[in-house]
Amino acid sequence: MAFLCWFSLCLVGFLYRTHLIVAQYDDRSTMLALKKELEVSGWGANDSDHCSWTGVQCSSSLSMVEKLDLSHHELQGNVTLVSGLKALKWLDLSFNDFHGPIPPAFGNLSELEFLDLSWNKFQSSIPPELGSIRNLRSLNLSYNWLTGRVPDELQGLESIHDLQISGNRFNGSIPHWVGNLSNLRVFTAYENELNGKIPENLGSVSDLQLLNLHSNQLEGHIPNSIFASGKLEVLVLTMNKLTGNLPESVGNCKGLSSIRIGNNMLLGSIPKAIGNISGLTYFEADNNNLSGEIVVEFSQCSNLTLLNLASNGFTGTIPPELGELMNLQELIISENGLFGEIPKSIIRCRNLNKLDLSNNRFNGTIPEDLCNAPRLQFLLLSQNSLRGEIPHEIGNCAKLLELQMGSNDLTGTIPPEIGWIKNLQIALNLSFNHLHGTIPSELGKLDKLVSLDVSNNQLSGSIPSALRGMMSLIEVNFSNNIFSGQVPIFGPFQKSSKSSFAGNKGLCGEPLSSSCGNSFDPDHGGYHHKVSYRIILAVIGSGLAVFISVTVIVLLFMMREKQEKAAKDVDITEDGATNPPVIIAGNIFVENLRQAIDFDAAVQATLKESNKLSTGTFSTVYKAVMPSGMILSVKRLKSMDRTIIHYQSKMIRELERLGKLYHDNLMRPIGFIIYEDLVLLLHDYLPNGTLTQLLHDFPMKTEYEPDWRTRLSIAIGVAEGLDFLHHVAIIHLDISSGNILLDANSKPLVGEIEISKLLDPSRGTASISAVAGSFGYIPPEYAYTMQVTAPGNVYSYGVVLLEILTTRLPVDEAFGEGIDLVKWVRGAPARGETPEQILDARLSTVSFAWRREMLAVLKVALLCTDSTPAKRPKMKAVVEMLQEIKQS
Ligand SMILES: *[C@@H]1O[C@H](CO)[C@@H](O)[C@H](O)[C@H]1NC(C)=O
Ligand SMILES: *[C@@H]1O[C@H](CO)[C@@H](O)[C@H](O)[C@H]1NC(C)=O
Ligand SMILES: *[C@@H]1O[C@H](CO)[C@@H](O)[C@H](O)[C@H]1NC(C)=O
Ligand SMILES: *[C@@H]1O[C@H](CO)[C@@H](O)[C@H](O)[C@H]1NC(C)=O
Ligand SMILES: *[C@@H]1O[C@H](CO)[C@@H](O)[C@H](O)[C@H]1NC(C)=O
Ligand SMILES: *[C@@H]1O[C@H](CO)[C@@H](O)[C@H](O)[C@H]1NC(C)=O
Ligand SMILES: *[C@@H]1O[C@H](CO)[C@@H](O)[C@H](O)[C@H]1NC(C)=O
Ligand SMILES: *[C@@H]1O[C@H](CO)[C@@H](O)[C@H](O)[C@H]1NC(C)=O
Ligand SMILES: *[C@@H]1O[C@H](CO)[C@@H](O)[C@H](O)[C@H]1NC(C)=O
Repeated sequence: MAFLCWFSLCLVGFLYRTHLIVAQYDDRSTMLALKKELEVSGWGANDSDHCSWTGVQCSSSLSMVEKLDLSHHELQGNVTLVSGLKALKWLDLSFNDFHGPIPPAFGNLSELEFLDLSWNKFQSSIPPELGSIRNLRSLNLSYNWLTGRVPDELQGLESIHDLQISGNRFNGSIPHWVGNLSNLRVFTAYENELNGKIPENLGSVSDLQLLNLHSNQLEGHIPNSIFASGKLEVLVLTMNKLTGNLPESVGNCKGLSSIRIGNNMLLGSIPKAIGNISGLTYFEADNNNLSGEIVVEFSQCSNLTLLNLASNGFTGTIPPELGELMNLQELIISENGLFGEIPKSIIRCRNLNKLDLSNNRFNGTIPEDLCNAPRLQFLLLSQNSLRGEIPHEIGNCAKLLELQMGSNDLTGTIPPEIGWIKNLQIALNLSFNHLHGTIPSELGKLDKLVSLDVSNNQLSGSIPSALRGMMSLIEVNFSNNIFSGQVPIFGPFQKSSKSSFAGNKGLCGEPLSSSCGNSFDPDHGGYHHKVSYRIILAVIGSGLAVFISVTVIVLLFMMREKQEKAAKDVDITEDGATNPPVIIAGNIFVENLRQAIDFDAAVQATLKESNKLSTGTFSTVYKAVMPSGMILSVKRLKSMDRTIIHYQSKMIRELERLGKLYHDNLMRPIGFIIYEDLVLLLHDYLPNGTLTQLLHDFPMKTEYEPDWRTRLSIAIGVAEGLDFLHHVAIIHLDISSGNILLDANSKPLVGEIEISKLLDPSRGTASISAVAGSFGYIPPEYAYTMQVTAPGNVYSYGVVLLEILTTRLPVDEAFGEGIDLVKWVRGAPARGETPEQILDARLSTVSFAWRREMLAVLKVALLCTDSTPAKRPKMKAVVEMLQEIKQS
């Protein structure tokens, strides 16, 4: 007996071992074949130990592959082989370059729980075989080139928690069985071509938390079922063709933080139950046919940050109770039928950043203390029936970027205090009112203002010559008033069309055809002097002082900085003494750096001005030496936008995603720290400085080594980095040579890529606004569209190319008034200059080969900086053109 027992045990043991060996052998050969097929960099030389290869995890007892993470490896090839790894539980192939259909053989991976194929180029329809992976909990097929209907076989995925199929070209309707998946928590299918209705039972048997279906062609109404469990946290249905009401049952979802249902055909009023959603932060329902009054219940949503009801049929008045919303940043209710007063209580919204009441029937006066809302940047009141005078207190709106008051019934004079709003830059529009009196010369202080419109009033007197201080003007309109005298001789005025000054009987001089006879302009002599001083001010204001080498300017700048610093230092020491910074959150994305980085040391480094490395449009960068000896670059965001904090978890996810965005030419974050209301981003410290320094700092050095080939490699590297960003649908908000860092081998890394993600926490049609870019790099269309686009990025890149070719700054007084680098280069033929006079002669005269290449790159730069966005090449084409120049 004993012997038999022993024998059978032995036999079992023997069989088991054989199985083990066979299995191990199987996975090893599969992995070797896979290594050969995909050429994975970083898969080791030791063929006998596939379990130690990067991204591979095996079961602890048997050496079978359980987890395979090949994300971000730029891989292509045939991945069918993976289906041979029978024990696989986790497969992540996201962010690669895989083409062709998804292998049906993946359906045989019966142990699989997590499958991420997002951000590839998988084509054709979803193989029905995937429906047989019974254990699958998470399926992500987002951002591929998949087409057709979602196959019914997928209803076999009974365990599915997270189902993401966004950013493809799926058509047909959302299958009804999605509503029968009892474990579904996250369902996203945005940016597809789905039509038909949202399934009536979606969410009825599961605790749905996130539903995002924006940008499809969905019809019918919003089903009650999605609110049934009360667990919904995020609802995004923007840009569809939905009809019907927002159901009353939405009030069940106390934890719903974001409701975005704009750009549909929704009807009816907002249910009062909206007040039951205590966690609501973001409510966007613009461009629908909603009606009724703005329900007072919104005032119970104490976390509400954005309320956008624009372009609907709302009537009645603004409930004064909205003033209780201490977190409200944007109140956008333009294009409705609202009337009455602007409630004074609105000023209590301490965080109000944008107030857009335009295009309604408001018929009260402008509250005097409106500007007590300390963060107000956008005050948009045009096209109403507002009465009374513009209060002098408007000058207290120190943060204002845009002031629109056109087409109202305003009377009185223009308060000179408007001139004190130093930040005003997008527009000042007072047109079509009943204003009289003269234009205050104080307006000349608005040196960042792009558009000024005072047309169609009863303004009189001469146009003050002090308006020449408005160095950034592009558009002006003084028409249909009773101005007299000469139009000041000033670029932006002279370049305007006649119609900008028409309808003023007493005006004369260019650009009007009536000349002023022999009258003369008293200020003319001191003009150039004055202009150059103003340019300096404008440049400093735009945060560009870093680029300027003229000593006087640097001194001016330093004095200003010193004063600001003195003020800031006091703040900091007071703060520091009473309560040291409390770190709220932080993480390091790179495992093996966790030990080396100390959060407190990083925070402390930003409190010392001597650590400051640079200041950009959106951030200040400090050098931080860790106790471990590691040196970091710590970027402190200028968080005027407190949404960043509101969307903390969203932001952290974005950062982690960016942290994984591997590209040789991108500077990705290695971690972050949030303390108080500040965000610090951690990066590797690159001691070689920026492209700006390489190009423009060498007069300081004793000798300069001309090296065109290095510059060309840098140009190509930057283009590749940007091409990659566009490939993953990220638009850079601030391309400039100052944001391009160089490593020890002069390899360029594009920085500030986080900004685009952090300033738009909600993706898609969000209206959180920000002014973007550095002076001289901003595409011309931006002044009108206020949107940074991929072609806009190409323009800014073109400016960087010109900088590399000419070794000139993007803005330089030497170009002449109102002329930037792009205009200077484009104007060369007209000035009778040859391209050689434009290119940096220290490079172009070294050899014929270099000269030929530089001329070819110049052509690319001119294509990139075409004033028509549609004519500019794509970043991908730019890379190809430059590669070709380098190789020929
Ligand atoms: C390869 O890996 C195996 C198993 O871990 C190990 O025994 C062997 O020493 C390694 N060979 C080399 C050359 O590193
Ligand atoms: C990929 O490889 C499998 C075998 O491993 C083969 O059957 C299939 O046809 C290949 N697919 C492509 C697109 O080459
Ligand atoms: C799945 O596995 C079965 C049995 O091993 C095999 O017959 C079938 O061909 C496989 N399917 C695919 C699509 O590879
Ligand atoms: C794909 O979706 C899964 C589940 O929602 C998620 O965990 C994963 O991070 C997503 N992948 C990417 C690249 O976003
Ligand atoms: C859905 O997409 C497929 C593949 O692109 C196409 O053949 C089919 O005509 C489309 N169906 C509809 C209804 O648009
Ligand atoms: C969903 O479940 C319900 C109830 O169990 C059933 O009647 C219905 O047929 C199912 N729908 C689909 C599409 O499977
Ligand atoms: C909202 O709350 C009120 C009382 O707080 C309650 O009577 C009402 O039923 C709730 N509505 C919904 C839709 O939850
Ligand atoms: C408001 O937001 C804060 C911070 O995100 C959060 O702690 C709090 O619970 C929210 N309030 C409600 C009522 O949801
Ligand atoms: C404002 O308009 C409303 C509605 O048209 C009207 O009832 C009210 O009298 C007006 N108020 C003033 C002060 O004109």
